[in-house]
Amino acid sequence: MHFTPMQTSPDETWATFVQDIEAELDAHRDRAFSDASQAFAATEAARQPWSRARVIEWLSFQTYYEYQAILFISKWLQSTPETDALVLLCQQIEDEGNHFNWLNQHLEQLGARLSEWTPLPEIVDWVESFYGSLPDTIARLAAHNLAGESGACRSFSSIVPFLPDDLQKTMRRIMPDEQFHLRLGRRILSKYCTTDEQRDRARHYALEVAELETRAIQAFNRKLATLEN
Ligand SMILES: [Fe+2]
Ligand SMILES: [Fe+2]
Repeated sequence: MHFTPMQTSPDETWATFVQDIEAELDAHRDRAFSDASQAFAATEAARQPWSRARVIEWLSFQTYYEYQAILFISKWLQSTPETDALVLLCQQIEDEGNHFNWLNQHLEQLGARLSEWTPLPEIVDWVESFYGSLPDTIARLAAHNLAGESGACRSFSSIVPFLPDDLQKTMRRIMPDEQFHLRLGRRILSKYCTTDEQRDRARHYALEVAELETRAIQAFNRKLATLEN
């Protein structure tokens, strides 16, 4: 017998409360990053091909994020009794492992080392402390897969045109995977949030990410701005 991996379809539909949370996240991000430039691209200098220093700094962050995603998602598996969510998260870890590997190769080609890069405290609070301590599947998928991955999809599409060609190619390979992680979050939340209390918890964790992410990105944008001088 031939088994195929679990799939999500772009045409799949989601519970209304999931769509409402996403609309709230979008509104939050529209307010936080009000000019057209978006996350990680807040200055005039960011709207043209990025300097090597800026590419290395952003790529270091993104490579770190993919690596941390492997660590916190693999930790979640130990306490994921929902077997469909467990299998989907295993597929996600494989994707994040590939992303880490590809981006790390770009970083090393640029002469940089992830081990020599230190994340800002606001980034550690968001990526390591918050994602690393989420209590259960609803909290984790609302925070990381719904809020975190939708933010990643949004910021990737806003910055990809300013990256070097070879890195653009890799990012375009990564983006459909992040869309899949977003869709699996929508699917699992639609299935397992059956009470108002669970739906409220999902919303709470998703919106908490919007706050943490905004603080981290604003701090990171300030650091990127110093590289332009
Ligand atoms: Fe990823
Ligand atoms: Fe992802």
